[in-house]
Amino acid sequence: MVQLSLCLPLLLTCLTGTTASEGAQSKTANYGPSFVEITGVSIVTVGIPYAFQCSATCSPACTFSWTRGNQTAQGPELRLELQVRVQPQVLICVALNPATGESVTVKKTLQVTEGPSDIIISGPDMLSNGQSSTFTCLADCYPSCLYTWTVGSEGQSTGVTSEGSSLTITPPSDAMSEKLTCQAQNSVSHLFISKTTSVWVATGPDDISISNQAGSNTVILGSTYKFFCIVYCTPSCNYTWTYNGHTYPGDQIQVPILHKGDKRKVMSKLVFTISDYTHTENLTCKAQNTISGLTIVTTATLTVIDPISVQPVSSTLPVAGQVYSLHCVGSQNPASILWTKDAVPLPVSSRVSLSLQNTTLSFSPLQQSDGGLYQCVVSQGGQSLKGIGYQLNVYYGPVDVAIVRPEIGPVGPELYVSPGSTTGLLCSSECYPNCSYTWIYNGKPVALKAAFSLTSGTPVQGGPLTCVANNPVTKENSSSETMVIPIVPFLDGPSNVTISGPRSLDVGVKATFRCSAQCSPSCSFTWTVYGHTMTGSTVDVTVSRYVPTESLSCEAHNSVTGRTASVNETLSVSDPHWCGC
Ligand SMILES: *[C@@H]1O[C@H](CO)[C@@H](O)[C@H](O)[C@H]1NC(C)=O
Ligand SMILES: *[C@@H]1O[C@H](CO)[C@@H](O)[C@H](O)[C@H]1NC(C)=O
Ligand SMILES: *[C@@H]1O[C@H](CO)[C@@H](O)[C@H](O)[C@H]1NC(C)=O
Ligand SMILES: *[C@@H]1O[C@H](CO)[C@@H](O)[C@H](O)[C@H]1NC(C)=O
Ligand SMILES: *[C@@H]1O[C@H](CO)[C@@H](O)[C@H](O)[C@H]1NC(C)=O
Ligand SMILES: *[C@@H]1O[C@H](CO)[C@@H](O)[C@H](O)[C@H]1NC(C)=O
Ligand SMILES: *[C@@H]1O[C@H](CO)[C@@H](O)[C@H](O)[C@H]1NC(C)=O
Ligand SMILES: *[C@@H]1O[C@H](CO)[C@@H](O)[C@H](O)[C@H]1NC(C)=O
Repeated sequence: MVQLSLCLPLLLTCLTGTTASEGAQSKTANYGPSFVEITGVSIVTVGIPYAFQCSATCSPACTFSWTRGNQTAQGPELRLELQVRVQPQVLICVALNPATGESVTVKKTLQVTEGPSDIIISGPDMLSNGQSSTFTCLADCYPSCLYTWTVGSEGQSTGVTSEGSSLTITPPSDAMSEKLTCQAQNSVSHLFISKTTSVWVATGPDDISISNQAGSNTVILGSTYKFFCIVYCTPSCNYTWTYNGHTYPGDQIQVPILHKGDKRKVMSKLVFTISDYTHTENLTCKAQNTISGLTIVTTATLTVIDPISVQPVSSTLPVAGQVYSLHCVGSQNPASILWTKDAVPLPVSSRVSLSLQNTTLSFSPLQQSDGGLYQCVVSQGGQSLKGIGYQLNVYYGPVDVAIVRPEIGPVGPELYVSPGSTTGLLCSSECYPNCSYTWIYNGKPVALKAAFSLTSGTPVQGGPLTCVANNPVTKENSSSETMVIPIVPFLDGPSNVTISGPRSLDVGVKATFRCSAQCSPSCSFTWTVYGHTMTGSTVDVTVSRYVPTESLSCEAHNSVTGRTASVNETLSVSDPHWCGC
């Protein structure tokens, strides 16, 4: 300002001077600088190059110098590219007339902006039909950004636009994917950048169907089939197969096989063997969209046929010891029929025989060991067919009935028990199905199960003990018997009845006496002490006043023999405080 105010009066003087003498010094007249100005933008963005021009009306031509902060430059043009965001910049241009030495200074203030750059769109990876989702757009801007969204289904020109950094959208029901474009614009420089992202919309599952690779819903028992569950599902479905009450895991092979319009067709494969013979059975496939969780279910009703079956010839029960036959049913003009038992070729013998064409298998007689899975393998028309077979359960028993003491072994013909004891017993036998049991002691039923506890009384009363095993199907029964014998104790006594204790008594001092005897079984004891009777093997005696002697009597009694024996004892008494004088 100081420079300018100094210059202005000078310039006016000069102009006045030159104008006045213009006519005289026509071609050599000096003037200017006047109309000094800086041209160029007023807003600069970091990272973008700019050029500014300083111009003036001068004669002869002016020279220009620039100042920005502490930097200077010469020439009419200033090039500027900011590397970092800084405060507003002041550009100063000085136009100097070299002939007159006059100069004019002008200034221009530049606003500094940055961005937009580094634009990102954040939000879910996948949209769901009918469900709203929110996306956010963010870019680096100084001083601020304005955001504009454009939403358009891919392949469609129509779209919705929305202002603001967040966008909430609900894809239309027929959308397969959505194209989202976000434009970020610097609020000052109006520079903008944009970013576009495409997001899949979860659709389906719909149009579900089950197909059998064999092409039919009639399936043969024992054969293995490949079923496919086909569904339209974006981006993917998981599957649950259900057959005959069994659920098969949901992660079967899943392959996108073709596109129908925009829809993705995916499928699941289930390979399984038909193992249950129930004529018709439902096979169910449930597909669940892994994003939206929506499910769809379809059911195929399978007709199960058993082309080759093994059946009993008659309805009589397969009981061990009796004749029995199985028939191979369903073969037509077979080349051969082979029989297996538990998947192993069945050896034939005089007891296990085949009919002429191997159609009938006969047991004469049936044995316990014949139980198992019987199948006939039929070769016909170059094919080998095998049905599910027949599970033969042979009814047998009871055999090997025995009365056993658990962890000890069979009791044998005689079972010794002592008085008052308890003996645990078990009736064991081999039966199919399991036998029922009856225990009989001294002719009376005493228990109705396999285990029995024999509790003896005192004295023991022995007798015959029988266990009867009964096959509930064949009604066959078989038994095992033992004789319960009491262990009779050795009887003796009483003899040698003895009283033990002190030989004399002191007045006022308690003394203890014990009575013993030889007895079998043991005796009971009765004491007589100064006219009183007491029971028990020991007795306590205290004399309260001085007497010369005291007598004790103990009687032993054997309750089994009924005999008694007794002993008398005479004790002397002393009194230390008594004076005989
Ligand atoms: C110019 O000024 C800047 C900051 O205003 C400073 O960092 C730089 O050192 C100065 N350069 C010179 C040559 O003085
Ligand atoms: C099989 O499905 C049909 C209908 O889809 C139903 O009527 C029938 O009861 C089902 N059968 C079984 C065994 O679940
Ligand atoms: C299928 O996927 C959904 C979502 O991932 C999950 O919740 C569901 O448990 C899955 N179902 C099965 C049967 O795996
Ligand atoms: C019958 O079975 C036997 C042995 O199981 C076999 O050797 C024979 O070839 C079979 N015959 C026919 C006609 O299938
Ligand atoms: C048959 O007896 C066995 C052995 O005592 C037992 O394990 C099994 O459960 C019984 N079966 C039936 C059907 O009661
Ligand atoms: C055992 O069988 C016989 C005849 O077979 C019958 O008289 C008896 O009552 C049966 N015993 C039991 C306990 O079932
Ligand atoms: C009588 O019993 C006593 C004590 O119990 C014993 O010491 C003695 O040997 C027995 N006498 C006879 C003959 O058994
Ligand atoms: C013990 O004395 C009583 C009477 O006091 C008599 O009846 C009994 O026979 C005596 N016993 C012996 C073994 O002396």
